[in-house]
Formats: sequence, C-alpha cells, structure tokens
Amino acid sequence: MDSKKLTSGSGAPYFEHQDSQTVGSRGPVLLQDFMLQENLAHFVRERIPERVVHAKGSGAYGKFTVTHDISKYTKAKLFAKVGNQCRMFARFSTVGGEKGSADTERDPRGFALKFYTEDGNWDLVGNNTPVFFIKDAKKFPDFIHTQKRVPKTNLKSATMMWDFWSLNPESLHQVLILMSDRGTPYGYRHMHGFGSHTFSMINHDNERVWVKFHFKTQQGIKNFSHDDAVKMKGENPDFAQEDLVTAIENGNFPKWTLYIQVMTEEQAKEFRWNPFDVTKVWLKNEFPLIEVGEMELNEIPANFFAHVEQATFSPSNLINGISFSPDKMLQGRLFSYPDAHRYRVGVNANQLEVNRCPFAVNNYQRDGAMADSSRYKDMPNYFPNSFDDIKPDPQYKNFEYDLDSTNVAHFNRNEDDDDHYTQPGLLYTKAMNQEDRDRLIYNIISSMRGISGPKRDEIINRQLCHFFRANIELGMKIAMGLQINIDANMMNHSKTEF
Ligand code: HEM
Repeated sequence: MDSKKLTSGSGAPYFEHQDSQTVGSRGPVLLQDFMLQENLAHFVRERIPERVVHAKGSGAYGKFTVTHDISKYTKAKLFAKVGNQCRMFARFSTVGGEKGSADTERDPRGFALKFYTEDGNWDLVGNNTPVFFIKDAKKFPDFIHTQKRVPKTNLKSATMMWDFWSLNPESLHQVLILMSDRGTPYGYRHMHGFGSHTFSMINHDNERVWVKFHFKTQQGIKNFSHDDAVKMKGENPDFAQEDLVTAIENGNFPKWTLYIQVMTEEQAKEFRWNPFDVTKVWLKNEFPLIEVGEMELNEIPANFFAHVEQATFSPSNLINGISFSPDKMLQGRLFSYPDAHRYRVGVNANQLEVNRCPFAVNNYQRDGAMADSSRYKDMPNYFPNSFDDIKPDPQYKNFEYDLDSTNVAHFNRNEDDDDHYTQPGLLYTKAMNQEDRDRLIYNIISSMRGISGPKRDEIINRQLCHFFRANIELGMKIAMGLQINIDANMMNHSKTEF
C-alpha cells in the first residue's frame, strides 16, 4: 500500500512530528517551529461548549421505512406511500450529567431523531418518556438548575430536586416515571421513544389533526434496578455507548416501530385535559396507536465529535405536513434550540455533514464563521433579484387558523388546568404491576433519603401530599419508608378516583 505523506493543515508535507526544533540537543525551543505551534494551537481548541442539557450521548445513522399509509393525515412526502424510505440520524442521551458522566444515572433519556426527507430535515427531539416535568418553557432554566449542581458546593442535591418538584406539582407524572425502573434503562436499545408534545399534521385538503409520536423498541423494554444502575456507574460509565456501538458493529441493528395517536380538532375541544399540556398523556383506549413505520440504526459514524457532538436537533426543524401545536413548552423550544446551536456549534451548523439537508437548500443566508459556499457559489445574496430562479412556492403557505381567545396575559399555569393527580394515579394503579410499584417506592425512598438541611421536613411533607393525592397507598408506603408520622390532613387531600 502506498503510504501517505504527513502534512500540515494547509497540505504541506513535513517530517518532524515528534521532536521540536531546539538550539542544541538540550536547548530552548524555537518560535519558528510553526508545526509545533499549529498542533498545540489546534489541540487547545478541540472542544466546543457541551450541550447545556443532554451533554452525554451516543449517536448512529440508520433508515426509516414507511410500512402503513397515513397520507390521509399528512402531506409530508415521506409518508406519501408505503415503502418510502429515508436516511436518518439518532442521538440518545442522559439529561442532567456532564459530557463524561455515567450512562446509568437515573434520568430521562433523550431520543432525538433527524429524518433527511425530500421536504427538508425533520427533527423529532423527544425523550424516552411520554410526558415532561413542567408545562411552560419559562420554568425550564430553573428546573434544570435543580438537576445539576449546587453553585457553592458543586455537588448534586436531592434537596433541591425534591424542593422544586414538591413546589411544582405538575411534575408528579414524570417524577413517577423517572423514579420507576424506566428511569434507569438498560442502555439505549431497550427503551421506547416519544415525541412527548402534541404536534400537528396537515393533509393535502388542508385539514389539520393533532398528533403524538411513539417509537416502540423492538428489542423489548429492559431496565436496570436501582442497585444495578448504581453499580454499573462504577464498572462502566459508558455502558450505553458501548452497548449501542457493539450491537451495531456486530450487525445486530436496533429497531423501533413508529406509531401515532391522532386527535381531531373537535375531539381536542372536548378532551378532559388540555391536549397541549406535555405533563399529560392521551389514553390509548381513547386514542389508539396507529402503526406508521420502522426505524433501524445500522451505522456508527466514523467520527464521534464531527457527527454526534456537532449534531444539532431542533423541534423547529419541521416540514410541510408536520407542524407544531400551541403547547407552551414546545413553543419555547422552537426558539431555544436554534439559539443553542448558534452558540454551541456556530451560525453555519446546518452546513455540517450530519446536519446538512441532502436535498436542495436555496436561500440568501451567507457568510458567518466557517461559511461553506460550495452550494451557493456566486449566486445572488438578496431577494428579490433578476438573476436566480428561486421562487417562494405558495403551496408551502403556513396553515391558517383562528385563535380561541384574543386576551393577552400571563395565564397561570395551574388555574384552568390543575389536575396533576389523576394521570399519575392511573399510572400507579393501572399501568404498573405490583413489582413495578414496589420498585418505584423503593427508588423514591432511596432518593428522598438524600433530602437534608433545615427545610427537610417541609419538603418531604409537601411532596408526600402529592403522592397521597395521586394514590393513598403510594403516599402511605413512602411515608412509612421514610418513617414519617402521617398527618390526617395529608391523606384527606387524596382525590384519587381509581
Ligand atoms: C437538548 C432546551 C424541553 C429533549 C436541549 C438543548 C437545549 C434544550 C438548549 C441543547 C441543544 C443543543 O445544544 O444542541 C430545552 C428547553 C425546553 C426543553 C428550553 C423546555 C422549554 C425538552 C423536552 C424534551 C427535550 C420537553 C423531550 C420531550 C431534548 C433532547 C435534547 C435536548 C433529546 C438533546 C438533543 C441532542 O441529542 O442533541 N434542550 N429543552 N427537551 N432536549 Fe431540550
């Protein structure tokens, strides 16, 4: 095999890669050794800011295949006919930990997908849980602070986590999922994925339905117990990365089946909860799962940093026929992700291989750090102009709709939507079996034992009230586990109907 010549970044071959140029064999190093400088300077710039959340993750390319016809709901070209396929990229992650943190931490798992479709790149940036802790984007930075480190001690703190959750009862549904064994999945292959929010689909007749996305793992659900997850943190902090890479490199490609739930605009008006509240699910007996297709991951990218670290997923990467909803969290996310990408990767992040749309991209965005002009070359950089043939196409006009209200205010998150307990109660009694419930209680007690300091009893009692309101047995067992004397007032709060 012909060997390749070692070159500088600008392509000039050079020889001395290991010995610096010095005055004498023991002498000082010369400034003129520009290859020493180039390599040192490049090295200290190897890192970009890590994601402020979901910093630790793993990624893979794959394909999505449409197996069932949903073209009556959406005009997206991908779903135009059964058998359609597109290339895709997936990144899974934990949320709160830093880039080097352990994969088996108790945490939701990110489930971010990028579909390279003819209509443009469509991103579904979800989690392995169908709901979330809060329902207004304004709370997100404060919530995330409680999942990270105490500014003074730089330690994680059960006290601040449970303080926040107990003061924000809308979190209860997601807290129960997080505290179940679903909070410690066995790597990334054995978990479901959810778009979580309500999205919309618009069809060729310009009719809109509300939609939720579910990806069911074909590998089967498998979780770590609390104790095994803690053990694995020490044994192999990169367990999930290794599990995904090993499976794919061995040709054991993980697969998920995509389903949607569909709600008409009329059904949304009648729905007993706010259909745009990301702390709630749509019950499957009322809104059954409709099968759509299959995703398979089959390629580990050749370079982790270039593809996985620089991947930029955004809920605002929507396509013709798939759009957002009035969900307040989702609306906040439409802003926050591209903003994060401009800061973390740069204004031309969309030009990088993993983020680039493989189909036509025609616009007037130019320049900025790291601009790559290979697509637009010398084309005009303004619109309208007399030279190019780029035309905005009216078939892509936004869907038009009337608002229910014209009253502008900071609506109280809980005023008209304060049922934080029925669905958590249903989760506990109907969705979980006895073993799930026992493990849930064990995990909650293990976590709440970490609450400390002068506000300990206040925080525990406030949170116990939420558990009691979801289900009396749940509250009782946790209280007993924490050896708390149960106040009759707490139990009277219970409104559970199931
Ligand atoms: C990552 C903000 C809620 C799933 C991120 C990032 C930001 C962010 C700034 C880092 C982006 C980057 O640097 O590339 C927010 C805000 C939220 C919110 C402001 C609430 C308003 C959610 C929810 C979900 C979610 C509800 C799931 C349903 C993810 C995932 C990632 C992520 C999966 C990692 C994406 C990747 O792999 O690159 N979020 N987030 N986030 N978020 Fe959120």
